[in-house]
Amino acid sequence: MSELDAEVLIVGAGPAGATLALLLAKHYGIHSIVLARHRGTANTPRAHIFNQRAMEVMRDLSLEGKLTAISSSAADMAHTSWLHSLTGREYGRLWSWGNDPLRKGEYESSSPCSMSDLPQSYLEPVLVDEGIKHGVTYCFRTEFVSFVEETDHVRVLARSRDTGQERVLFSRYLVGADGARSSVLTQLGIPVDGRQLNNAFNVHIKADMTRYFQHRPGSLNWILNPEAPEWSAVGNFRMVRPWTEFVVSMHPSTKNGRPFEPTHEDIKRRLYQMIGEDTVDIQILSSYQWTINDQLARSWQKGRVMCIGDATHRHPPINGLGSNTCISDAFNLAWKLAFVVQGHASERLLGTLTEERRPVGESIVRRANEGMEVHRALWQLIGLTKEAREVAMQTMESATREGQVLRERFNTLLDQVDDEVQAVGIQMNQLYIGSGCTVAESDDGKLDLTGVNLLKKVVKSTYPGCHLPHVWIVKNSQSEKISTLDLVGRGSFTLLTGIGGTEWVLAAESLAERLPIRTYSIGIGCDYMDAYREWTKVRGISDDGAVLVRPDHFVAWRTNGLASGHISKLEGILSQCLGYN
Ligand code: FDA
Repeated sequence: MSELDAEVLIVGAGPAGATLALLLAKHYGIHSIVLARHRGTANTPRAHIFNQRAMEVMRDLSLEGKLTAISSSAADMAHTSWLHSLTGREYGRLWSWGNDPLRKGEYESSSPCSMSDLPQSYLEPVLVDEGIKHGVTYCFRTEFVSFVEETDHVRVLARSRDTGQERVLFSRYLVGADGARSSVLTQLGIPVDGRQLNNAFNVHIKADMTRYFQHRPGSLNWILNPEAPEWSAVGNFRMVRPWTEFVVSMHPSTKNGRPFEPTHEDIKRRLYQMIGEDTVDIQILSSYQWTINDQLARSWQKGRVMCIGDATHRHPPINGLGSNTCISDAFNLAWKLAFVVQGHASERLLGTLTEERRPVGESIVRRANEGMEVHRALWQLIGLTKEAREVAMQTMESATREGQVLRERFNTLLDQVDDEVQAVGIQMNQLYIGSGCTVAESDDGKLDLTGVNLLKKVVKSTYPGCHLPHVWIVKNSQSEKISTLDLVGRGSFTLLTGIGGTEWVLAAESLAERLPIRTYSIGIGCDYMDAYREWTKVRGISDDGAVLVRPDHFVAWRTNGLASGHISKLEGILSQCLGYN
């Protein structure tokens, strides 16, 4: 082998690849080369609901402020609505994305970050620019062709799409973050279960539509309009910028039979129909098809090659979990890869990527597809043809038994969509309980999740494998409150202790020469004060106990006080978490 070109070679500059490259560079000083087949970052808005967990990763990268400044706020996402047209009959609406007055507290108490709407085309340039600043090498218009895994490195063949010139690159590890048609996953020979669903047709437009939205702000606005038989009755105005830029989903009718080649005139006619009037100036920026899938890879890793993001999980946009999950995948992999590259961990640690992330991928693919079924049932109920809609509406408005039944069924289905647009649980709960890089003490029992609705409720526990709960703490009476999440992460393990935990602090300090670990104590007279007494309620340990938190904010281990042997105990736990035994 000639010299390594980079420690890590990443295929893909989307949310998964760009986040991984940035984390490796910024937190660990690890150089990666990113290959991307396109000219630049996403040229259409694509995924946009940006959840709190994804923003916590960005907060860890000190990018929260920058990204919040270019996002639309939670208030702009307040509703999801069902309408005949933007000016026509409304069928109903739901409070969405943490805006339900009864649920706001759950969102606010779960994270220091807020929900926002951040289109991928705005997110990706920030990740790439920041990555380049920290030394990531981006090679756009460069295609991954193939790889060969050797004993201690991977040899990758790449091709310039401009010149056709091929180049061999050597890296210690290869990561396929190359999206839903991942060549890396295919070459690994990892099977993908599931199927392709339908093609979606999106139209990206600019138009000042303030008057249709200012009284009912919302990211997702379903239009159920069967007036044009050549189009599907189902469409959606998805906010990109309030209220002047949108992506409009509008699908061809499946009964059409003819090739689907709408002209700009056809599209505009349908847009005006979906609006309900033709007085708005519309600029069509682009239109494109994309494939919606229901697929899950069997494994995320084989040897020196790993896959993350849409390469491994592909699903409808329901619940807005696409790019958010890609970002969490990257956060899970970054520290493991970095610790292995830097000699702090055994290569076995990489095997926990599948163990921890596949169940998350599986749950979001399943949830997105279940959510899709609810939409289908709702559309069917109020009719997908002009005739069926007229009958349904007459029944809905009638003071008859049938009318009452239909209204109840409609309301029940709308309530079920609540599992999509107010599902803070699935956004936040990514449980790694029992995984190889967490250790539960035998006297710690089991985390009892019986009866917990994991879709809706956030698990707040320091049980190993749970995400460290966010609570507010303060440095002193003069300082701003900070989150417990602000103490952890940024490339390091963190040991949290309290009054009487000095031996744990000393133990961590003695290991800090060998691997990144820091300590903080929380309590009266400690590094931080539990001013709101929230930490005391969630920490699950005694004052002199300790909670060990991984660089990706997940609890690795926790314990109550120990009489002696703190150093060897902590050393043993870390070596277990890092794949050594
Ligand atoms: P992503 O697909 O973003 O990136 C893949 C990267 O790999 C790109 O940089 C690409 O150039 C590169 N690549 C691929 N093959 C390569 C090769 N052989 N060599 C080199 N580079 C290669 N989701 C949603 O929730 N709501 C939505 O409305 C939409 N809309 C939408 C529209 C379109 C057109 C697409 C393609 C996708 C969506 N999505 C979406 C899905 C969402 O965009 C998706 O979940 C994330 O982008 C996945 O992020 P990844 O980083 O995993 O891959």
